[in-house]
Amino acid sequence: MKTLYLSTSEEDMKIAGEIVRNGGLVAFPTETVYGLGADAFDAEAVENIYTVKGRPADNPSIVHIWNREQLKLITPMVTPVMVKVMDAFWPGPVTMICERTDEVPYVTTGGLETVGIRMPSDPGAKSFLRAADCPIAAPSANLSGRPSPTTADHVREDFDGKIDAIIDGGPCEIGIESTVIDLTGEIPMILRPGYMTAEDFQDRLGMPVIMDPALNKKPEDPDFHPKAPGMKYKHYAPKAPMIIFEGDEVKVLEAIECEKNEHEMEGENVVVLEFGENGAIGAAHELFAKLREADREHADIILAAALPQKGVGFSVMNRMLKSAGFNIRKV
Ligand code: TXA
Ligand code: MG
Repeated sequence: MKTLYLSTSEEDMKIAGEIVRNGGLVAFPTETVYGLGADAFDAEAVENIYTVKGRPADNPSIVHIWNREQLKLITPMVTPVMVKVMDAFWPGPVTMICERTDEVPYVTTGGLETVGIRMPSDPGAKSFLRAADCPIAAPSANLSGRPSPTTADHVREDFDGKIDAIIDGGPCEIGIESTVIDLTGEIPMILRPGYMTAEDFQDRLGMPVIMDPALNKKPEDPDFHPKAPGMKYKHYAPKAPMIIFEGDEVKVLEAIECEKNEHEMEGENVVVLEFGENGAIGAAHELFAKLREADREHADIILAAALPQKGVGFSVMNRMLKSAGFNIRKV
């Protein structure tokens, strides 16, 4: 298959819209990461996403919309708490877990009776969703297990020749995936941490929210049963092993330097992840791109300093810990 490379021009959006309406797969930009989209109601097309990604069938895809009219196709009832979340965070990097209508096929929901819904704010995402004119099921546009794509080039690395089209909307503004919040229980529960944090929800909704307890557990813990199926899989893994150093800042830098020297003496290629000035937000923006860069440079080992686990730092560390297979060295 020849993959079509598209811009976000109106003309190209028409082409992209036609492709998905005919059952094809189109990768598109969002403010979080690139998504790999298909018509959410076309079971066969969604099935194809799982095949090309190598994604386990029990891991549901998020359904993307561009206006609230589309909600009624996907979920039977818009509850007051859904309205609060949408008013506060949409369009933006937040996915709500709601009841599903019978029209949403089980391939899209991974067999669940609930469905994840998100309205992205990225202008390219919006024009694509408008042109498609149907809700779009889309997981992140990476091969299963690889770091999520934050540029069209990352998508090309994984899917050139395997999907119908890639829309290039430039680098993603945020760089980590949306916060997933389950609104089907009595108290909203964060299933996947993201750019919008528990504090943001509490402040803007004026109500308590809880975190899925699994978010503070390691996969080998017998009580590790995350509510979002995707959170149980190995993710974001660069090809090289990775070590995260945690502790006093100066000691961490010394330990990284020392580890680096040891490996370089063996002739190994060492990549140290460094994230510039912008704290956790900068790290969110750069993490996945740096992990892919390490792969391209054939890193033998990747070293990184832990981020303080608060706010967006907690969300970035959630990804970093998975990248490193929870290989933490306390110094
Ligand atoms: O920012 C994002 O969310 C990006 C862009 C493309 O929108 N998408 C994304 O999709 O990260 P994906 O498939 O890589 O992650 C979706 C996560 C998975 O952990 C999945 O298990 C969870 O959301 N999820 C989706 N529907 C769910 C549901 N009904 N119940 C529980 N978890 C669900
Ligand atoms: Mg993903």
